[in-house]
Amino acid sequence: MPDNREFTLYEAIGGEKAVRKLVNAFYPLVQANPLIGPLFPDDIEPVREKQFLFLTQFFGGPPLYSERYGHPMMRARHLPFPITPERADAWLGCMSRALDSLQLEEDLKGFVLERLKAPAYHFINS
Ligand code: HEM
Repeated sequence: MPDNREFTLYEAIGGEKAVRKLVNAFYPLVQANPLIGPLFPDDIEPVREKQFLFLTQFFGGPPLYSERYGHPMMRARHLPFPITPERADAWLGCMSRALDSLQLEEDLKGFVLERLKAPAYHFINS
């Protein structure tokens, strides 16, 4: 039988372990960033866990976020926070550095970042 399952981005980057590693690398960078760090609570653990659940499903893995929290409505969930173009770029910059910890091939890393760029710019509200 031919295996014609779609190969997800989630699998391509290394699955659960990789997404864990990514969020672990990402939030220290976010917290240290003067543009976006102050938007986040001191206790980052709950945010990091939600991001783990969300990115897992965003990359095509199991729908962990929706199972727990329902429809993501991510733009709406970001409305309480003033997201400027500069802040979207800061978020993507932290994500780019965090992705380096996965040591992906350059093309794959670029593809992941492109996929994240769309929501990041979509969340701009200020
Ligand atoms: C554009 C720049 C962005 C900024 C400045 C930003 C900032 C924030 C802030 C301040 C929170 C709330 C933290 C809290 O609970 O107090 C949050 C939550 C979250 N963000 Fe972002 N974010 C950005 C982009 C993104 C993108 C692109 C994604 C995913 C593709 C994302 C996914 C999430 C998730 C999953 C949560 C948790 C939502 C929940 O409460 O259930 N964010 N973000």
